[in-house]
Amino acid sequence: MSDSRESAIEYVRENYDRFLEDLRELVAIPSVSMQADHNSDMGRAAEWLAARLTALGMEAVQVLPTTRHPVVYGEWLGAGGKAPTILVYGHYDVQPVDPLDLWKSDPYEAAQQGDYLFGRGTSDMKGQVIASIAAIESLAKTSGLPVNVKWLLEGEEEMGSPSMAAFLPEHKDLLGADFCLNPDAGMIAPDQPTITYGLRGLAYFELHVWGPDHDLHSGLYGGTVHNPAQALAELVAGMHDAQGRITLPGFYDPVRPLDPEEHADMAKLPMDEAFYISQTGVPALWGEADYLPIERVGVRPTLEVNGLLSGYTEAGSKTVLPAKAMAKLSCRLVPDQQPEQVHEQMLRYLEEHAPKSVHWELKLLNVGSTAITDRNLPGIKSMETAMETVWGARPLYKREGGSIPVVAMLQEVLGLESVLCGFSLPEDNVHAPNERLHLPTWSKGIDALVHFFANLA
Ligand code: BES
Ligand code: MN
Repeated sequence: MSDSRESAIEYVRENYDRFLEDLRELVAIPSVSMQADHNSDMGRAAEWLAARLTALGMEAVQVLPTTRHPVVYGEWLGAGGKAPTILVYGHYDVQPVDPLDLWKSDPYEAAQQGDYLFGRGTSDMKGQVIASIAAIESLAKTSGLPVNVKWLLEGEEEMGSPSMAAFLPEHKDLLGADFCLNPDAGMIAPDQPTITYGLRGLAYFELHVWGPDHDLHSGLYGGTVHNPAQALAELVAGMHDAQGRITLPGFYDPVRPLDPEEHADMAKLPMDEAFYISQTGVPALWGEADYLPIERVGVRPTLEVNGLLSGYTEAGSKTVLPAKAMAKLSCRLVPDQQPEQVHEQMLRYLEEHAPKSVHWELKLLNVGSTAITDRNLPGIKSMETAMETVWGARPLYKREGGSIPVVAMLQEVLGLESVLCGFSLPEDNVHAPNERLHLPTWSKGIDALVHFFANLA
């Protein structure tokens, strides 16, 4: 280890409590992008980050407006034209906190318990943003940053990054870089550093079904009127066959067959049936039997029911035939599926299967494209070495079931590949109550980012 790294790592140690305090402050701003009553919080979070970037010596720091939530930009180009320029991506928005009663502590008041910091966004991904800030500050304030950096911190990732499609082409020159560092993907286990090279895409729908123009007495009308809750359940149930395969017409046509080499790699990952059972508490797994669990999550597309709404759900009974029903449905997509195609397929399925006895309407809420990243990028090598230095173990490569829409957009619009990493863990309850960050892993993550930037020099 060279002296310059040593002084930066020492700086990380000395300032660890302050970095943790930064994270607490950012978590305290309820930046839920999807909920309009949090719009002012979104602005506050952006301003907080802009101030933080300025404090660590970034230049040209700006809060750039979009049609919805602002983007925070900053840069430091002092390493000169010969040094690489890294675009550091992050998102400061978080998912809604409901159901609130299942949280053991206030989601916006980060609470430390043993090795964990609990709170919304601690893991996904305010903790990862602060880790990037901490690593860059530690280099900048000691030996000096060996590379140029630019920051792209968006506020719409958790809603599918709708503004990015216009924002990226408009700011093409500003965002120009050699590649992107994206710490929004996690690790398999605390002792197993991970580099992600694939992400699934997403097509998210709301399906409304209605029949009568008002709620009915189930005794007086049941049997003559098709219950919208039942009709919706029938439609949703028909979207999978008995083998767990999706029945939308043409759904699997663009799906690339699994490469035997990739299958062999996947089989080696420490994510077998027992892993998924222990992570989730389910009595047994479900899904396409001819694929490994990790393949069903990483390389196969899915259709999930994210929410169902209809009828009487309060205490006790009410004999009602509800007038309407609604389902939130989303498909995770894999290469070469396109969200717009899946929207068409969903419409065709409904046209073919919806009964004449109800009305229906399908809304497309958000989309994200799939991405496979270049594993031979020099930045990947730097990350591999950095992780090995910190963990003493070679990172595993994995395709992730989650989505990060900006990754494909950066490839298409700016020609930028991404180094996908991150220091969240499968058991961190992301998007769920009691989201948490494993602080020992986070601390190693900061060190790994220091080494990563140093390796790039
Ligand atoms: N960080 C996650 C995605 C992720 C999680 C990638 C774990 C790799 C490992 C990201 O914030 C996320 O949740 N994205 C959304 C995007 C969607 C709304 C388009 C997702 O996947 O649900
Ligand atoms: Mn997320």
